[in-house]
Amino acid sequence: MAPGTSTNIPLKTLKGHDMPVVALGTFEFSFDSDKAKAAIIEAIKIGYRHFDTAVQYGSEGALGEAIAEAVRLGLIGSRADVFITTKQWCTDNHPDRVLSAIKTSLSNLKMDYLDLYLIHWPISIKPGPISYPLKREEVMPLDLKGVWEAMEECQKLGLTRSIGVSNFTTKKLEELLQFATIPPAVNQVEMNPGWQQQKLKEYCTKKGITITAYSPLGGQMNFIIPNAVLTSHVLKEIADAKGKSVAQISLRWILEQGAGIVVKSFNKERLIQNVEIFDWELTKEEHAKISSIPQKKVITTEIMLASEGSLSSVDFSDIDTVET
Ligand code: A2P
Repeated sequence: MAPGTSTNIPLKTLKGHDMPVVALGTFEFSFDSDKAKAAIIEAIKIGYRHFDTAVQYGSEGALGEAIAEAVRLGLIGSRADVFITTKQWCTDNHPDRVLSAIKTSLSNLKMDYLDLYLIHWPISIKPGPISYPLKREEVMPLDLKGVWEAMEECQKLGLTRSIGVSNFTTKKLEELLQFATIPPAVNQVEMNPGWQQQKLKEYCTKKGITITAYSPLGGQMNFIIPNAVLTSHVLKEIADAKGKSVAQISLRWILEQGAGIVVKSFNKERLIQNVEIFDWELTKEEHAKISSIPQKKVITTEIMLASEGSLSSVDFSDIDTVET
């Protein structure tokens, strides 16, 4: 059975194989493995078939165990019934480290292939253990051509069905497309009514790259920056008029942009709510109101970098470019 066929979650075709349009995100500050596993099992019962992780989140192991448990419980027939996305970290963003990085992720997941493997950021950090925030003095120039060749090799070896990128601007994609023999299937980026990414969306549509939205509800940085989605008066007004939640309006808006969604909830009611978005739509007037929401990017390189230390030769201006 193809991932997603037993559920009401629609599929998107990535060059020959299907990706359920909504993925369950597994990033959480203070990650709790047992809580995450219980939520993943619950999500499978609800109908989720796409799960998003990254080596940096520390959630690959819990995800792999939850999928194995779901097979044991008979909730799914086999690992082939789910779509798994993971990402390599900046410390592995070196041509000679990509193959061992994907093997580490597969070993964490206890799986023999991925559905989608992404370059997490177009940033290269000195090889070593994952540390966050990024140390400025450890940032190195990125050999994107060499790294992408290694990503292509992972796909050719059957270690992943598709490859893609995350946090790439149009400039970075333009650079990548100059030499890619396998173009990226997906670009996973911050996208929601508070950061609409219209220019990037147009570019990716033209190039046949699927955008997947992370932080679709504004993300989990509200202790630093107030959440512009869940506190939006514009979205609240639309939600009240339609008898939906603000979260559902945001998710439906993303869907109507033609994008995929990675939404994280480890709460049963919200897991259900977040996939009840397929049998209604937003009107033209509602789209116009959403277009007027002030725009602000939350996840910037400045947020990811430690405050001390100095950046030497690397320029991040083409990563943080404002593209609304
Ligand atoms: P929780 O796991 O307690 O539901 P994003 O996907 O944009 O990163 O946002 C995820 C955050 O939003 C999480 O903190 C999650 O917490 C919360 N969340 C997920 N679904 C909903 C919802 N339907 N309504 C309100 N908050 C939600």
